[in-house]
Amino acid sequence: MQTALRKVGDYVIRRCEASDLQAVIDINMAALPEHYSDYFFESILRELPEAFILAELNDKIVGYIMCKIEFGFSNFRKLGFVKKGHVVSVAVLEEHRGKSIGKALMVEGINGVMHRKADEIYLEVRVSNTSAIKMYQKLLFEIKSRLRSYYRDGEDAYLMALDLS
Ligand SMILES: CC(C)(COP(=O)(O)OP(=O)(O)OC[C@H]1O[C@@H](n2cnc3c(N)ncnc32)[C@H](O)[C@@H]1OP(=O)(O)O)[C@@H](O)C(=O)NCCC(=O)NCCS
Repeated sequence: MQTALRKVGDYVIRRCEASDLQAVIDINMAALPEHYSDYFFESILRELPEAFILAELNDKIVGYIMCKIEFGFSNFRKLGFVKKGHVVSVAVLEEHRGKSIGKALMVEGINGVMHRKADEIYLEVRVSNTSAIKMYQKLLFEIKSRLRSYYRDGEDAYLMALDLS
């Protein structure tokens, strides 16, 4: 059993383990239109366990964040290739929202990518997803660009990024 990274009220924030993945997949199905294969979740956990974080209440998983590390052009005009954390997915079950769980997951996900010495972290978010955009702005992410028709249904995304250096 993983030890708590922090507590938010009665919620425990901790790292994900392989045995938790089905619960994560179920939350992803319930909370987001973007879904992935089981293999994708497994490979993300294998590659970056430090930034695959869960929120749990009374042994029930109610939220998660999973991230990747990538190399590429900076979102902050830094020269050359940089190491970037990428928030692949973050979600909290609807009945547990508004209790600072999302923010705590984000902070621990950011800590996880900082552990790998990432220079910056970025994510994509639907332009209509006001609550998520507000959460990212509260964490000092900035909107860097608008990605036209990024989602399968044609909606645009904002690319938002936070400088970690
Ligand atoms: C986005 C999401 C993860 C936020 O989780 P949460 O636990 O409700 O968020 P928190 O309680 O930690 O709120 C963090 C901040 O986000 C903002 N926020 C959250 N919900 C909000 C809402 N309904 N309206 C306005 N702002 C909101 C607030 O600024 C809040 O800070 P504050 O509490 O200091 O005011 C959650 O709404 C969710 O799972 N949504 C569906 C999945 C999703 O859209 N994921 C993001 C994909 S890019």
